[in-house]
Amino acid sequence: MSTLLDSLSMRDLEVPNRIAVSPMCQYSCEADGMPTEWHHVHLGSRAVGGAGIVMTEATAVEPRGRITPGDLGIWSDEHAVALAKTTRFIREQGGVPAIQLAHAGHKASKCRPWDGNVPIDPDDGGWEVLSPSPDAYPPFEGEKPAIRKATVDDIQDVIDAYGAAAERSLEAGFEIAEVHAAHGYLLHEFLSPVTNRREDDYGGSFENRTRLLREVVSAVRDVWPEEKPVFVRISGTDWLENQPSWDIEQSVRLADDLESLGVDLVDVSSGGLHPEQDASGGPNFQVPLAEAIGAETDVAVGAVGGVTEPEQADALVRNDRADLVLVGREFLRDPYFGVHAASALEEDASSRWPVQYRRAVR
Ligand code: FNR
Repeated sequence: MSTLLDSLSMRDLEVPNRIAVSPMCQYSCEADGMPTEWHHVHLGSRAVGGAGIVMTEATAVEPRGRITPGDLGIWSDEHAVALAKTTRFIREQGGVPAIQLAHAGHKASKCRPWDGNVPIDPDDGGWEVLSPSPDAYPPFEGEKPAIRKATVDDIQDVIDAYGAAAERSLEAGFEIAEVHAAHGYLLHEFLSPVTNRREDDYGGSFENRTRLLREVVSAVRDVWPEEKPVFVRISGTDWLENQPSWDIEQSVRLADDLESLGVDLVDVSSGGLHPEQDASGGPNFQVPLAEAIGAETDVAVGAVGGVTEPEQADALVRNDRADLVLVGREFLRDPYFGVHAASALEEDASSRWPVQYRRAVR
């Protein structure tokens, strides 16, 4: 039996505990997807706070793949150089730096949430967004942006952009690359029959709808060293009952395929594709999806969603419901969730705190 505070070995990487900072957009770039001091301090603080893995926000593999102009990018060498400062700091704290590689597909070109989260006017800096099939796009809010149906050349460009982004991530010092295939963004848009109405090799059957993700994962795996892990975040279900959609049965089958392609962990979230999704929310609400994939495949699984308490997170690992627990909003409320969890779960957790802070820890 493993516990939340036990290390996790994947390939040659040893993660010091099973707590990860879930990827969370900060919308805080000032220009061209370049990190700012905000990213450095935000991610660095969570490393000080004892997270085993500190994952960046969705980081765009090409400029049009950003959700908002404030999103992080990794499409040039300058991005890699700028991010290296943060990966170095995370390692110095004993944490593992991870990057989530993303393409927002037809959910791109929005303004920041605090500016309304609506599509940006093309005359005001908005851009054409990529979609498997624009006529099937169910917008969450606001008007539709200018949509481009992805050609086969566009698809190849996306695959190449993921490969190049992974190479740069390695140069930047990241230890784990996570491919973002959840929440209604480009790769999920191809997976789900709700948004994928294509009739070519990338649409229709399960095999065809999963082709782009499998090709992206192969491109990343090709450049990511053998000794380092690759994760994929998926939406385990679209939470839609009355139409053909993406569901847990397909997710289990996909996870099996991903494992054969060299994916080490499937990070299981859900929804984000359709405004009429029927999702419950609340503590552990997505855990049964992770648990199903863990039980039916050989791939490791990450659970995320509504985890706020150390004992709750520990129980997920102890009861073999997940190999890793990703914590989102609780890490925004408490950057030190990792060391606080250690203090709650261990009699003497002082050695898990940064040496600079130990005089404050009993
Ligand atoms: C998110 N989430 C998210 N997910 C993702 O895969 N990539 C991302 O960049 C983001 N961005 C993001 C920003 C903010 C401000 C929030 C609150 C959330 C989803 C997040 O990673 C997580 O899956 C959910 O928040 C559910 O977990 P919690 O918050 O209940 O622990």
